[in-house]
Amino acid sequence: MLTLTTRRLLLEPWQERHAPHLLRLATDSRVMRYISTGVWSPGYAARRHVQALRHWADHGFGWRAVHDRRDRSFLGLVSLIRPASPVAGIPEPALEIGWWVAPDAWGRGIATEAASAMLAEAFDRLEAAAVVARFHAANIGSARVTAKLGLVPVGETTGPNGEPMRICALTGADYRSDRPVKDDRKRPG
Ligand SMILES: CC(C)(COP(=O)(O)OP(=O)(O)OC[C@H]1O[C@@H](n2cnc3c(N)ncnc32)[C@H](O)[C@@H]1OP(=O)(O)O)[C@@H](O)C(=O)NCCC(=O)NCCS
Repeated sequence: MLTLTTRRLLLEPWQERHAPHLLRLATDSRVMRYISTGVWSPGYAARRHVQALRHWADHGFGWRAVHDRRDRSFLGLVSLIRPASPVAGIPEPALEIGWWVAPDAWGRGIATEAASAMLAEAFDRLEAAAVVARFHAANIGSARVTAKLGLVPVGETTGPNGEPMRICALTGADYRSDRPVKDDRKRPG
């Protein structure tokens, strides 16, 4: 499977060797502050790791490990998955995007840079009709990342613990209309 390359990052398809990185992120309360499950047990992290491998095998896309291009250090993960439930009013097929960055790397634009490449993959390679993001309304960092990516608020819901959640989305049509023609492989030059 293809590794995506951005200016500073390598986005590798999720692999067996990424399991320890997932455990480190998922047991860090700073990372999990706005994740409805709270911190993960090692057993739960192992199950989600296997699910991530299976998602790639079944669908040909999924989580990607984010590495620094300079020294190959692990910086976080970005995810692109088939949503568990459809979002009302969003064209199908829609894909759901997410991001977890290691706290040492916060505030450097890593989530935005990695997620931009995932949007391109969603719309250009996977031909999604829309990309959605769901996050805790209190998660200001995620709200900023979605805004910088061009996703717009489309709804609100509540999480499993009754916490207010925000839903944002970008359609393929809006994605393409906002891009310069020279960067859009689908349109004649
Ligand atoms: C949310 C998260 C992915 C952002 O990662 P990041 O690499 O720091 O993101 P970026 O640097 O690309 O952008 C973050 C933006 O949010 C802003 N931000 C972050 N926390 C903020 C806060 N508490 N208040 C105001 N702005 C905040 C940053 O200033 C930046 O905006 P700017 O570029 O306009 O200055 C990271 O904090 C994280 O991994 N959190 C834990 C996991 C998580 O909650 N994931 C989302 C689950 S849906």
